[in-house]
Amino acid sequence: MMSWPEQVVRVQSLSESGIPAIPNQYIKPLTERPVFELGSLSDRRVDIPVVDLRNLFGNDPILHLDTLIRISTACRHWGFFQAVNHGVSHELMRRARLVWRDFFNLPLQVKQEYANAPTTYEGYGSRLGVEKGAILDWSDYFFLHYLPVSLRNQSKWPEQPSSCREVVAEYGCEVAKLCTTLLKAMSTDLGLKEEYIENAFGGDNMEASLRVNFYPKCPQPELTLGLSSHSDPGGITILLPDRDVARLQVRKDGDWITVNPVPDSLIVMVGDQIQVMSNAIYTSVEHRVIANSAKDGVSLAMFFNPKSDLVIKPAEELVSEERPAVYDGMTFDQYRVHMRMKGPCGKARLESLKFNGPK
Ligand code: OGA
Ligand code: NI
Repeated sequence: MMSWPEQVVRVQSLSESGIPAIPNQYIKPLTERPVFELGSLSDRRVDIPVVDLRNLFGNDPILHLDTLIRISTACRHWGFFQAVNHGVSHELMRRARLVWRDFFNLPLQVKQEYANAPTTYEGYGSRLGVEKGAILDWSDYFFLHYLPVSLRNQSKWPEQPSSCREVVAEYGCEVAKLCTTLLKAMSTDLGLKEEYIENAFGGDNMEASLRVNFYPKCPQPELTLGLSSHSDPGGITILLPDRDVARLQVRKDGDWITVNPVPDSLIVMVGDQIQVMSNAIYTSVEHRVIANSAKDGVSLAMFFNPKSDLVIKPAEELVSEERPAVYDGMTFDQYRVHMRMKGPCGKARLESLKFNGPK
């Protein structure tokens, strides 16, 4: 089995050891470091899209259309929005956060039983890429497969806390329903059949996985990142952000903008496969996570991806003489090799897929 290039260090253990300075391997180059102004994050106070999804589930056609337009604008210009009245139980969201916080607070040796390897990523991990000497992020994570059911292996999910498996199953189920609703809305907005994206992703064989991020306290947040800049490689991501601290930043027109989560919202992010399939009508959002010196945090990112051996290419309905195909098609298996080798690197992968982009 392929293993990690260096001994894995748990960032949480480093943090809890009380070191006053972060090790060199976590220090980002100057251009990648976050900008802190007067001790707080630079926030340009732009209007971050918030979409109330209530009317997507109702049957008033005018309000339905209004919601669709809001989703459309957000997906075209930002590649992301904060969703409220999204249908996922707030109480379940709280339980999901809590159960994972409890998991990360278990003794190290309990968590180590789930230590992951770069072959599948499944389990407890602390890095993404496999390049020796890479600069690492200030976070640990737990990654698991949720869909299709044939890839779901509950024995690889934490046995403790005792409600973990049940909560993950319940949370996944509700978020998957929301995903289906959103994919229909996006397909309709793009002028495709309602089921288009879902079917192109493999229908019942669509893949879903959960990445739970743990962001330990960091003694020097100005030198590193909780998670480096990237766009999510798959279809869409539904993120339950950390509750206490605004850590997530999205890139808009070159600027990093801090997302202050609306209480009980879920963050919807367009991934690269939808940018490809929409022939770049939708944009995937580049994002990163800032480290924090005062508080640790937990977020749950649920990724919905195409079945990994299907070729994803621009929908024929969205390709014309005036708007030729921007991308080559490729399978998600081929696509994600890059991130799995090199770890997060902005939107470089997607750029390289352009017909006339750098190969
Ligand atoms: C991710 C991600 C953001 C966050 O897991 O891909 O971007 O706020 N997470 O944890
Ligand atoms: Ni992400």
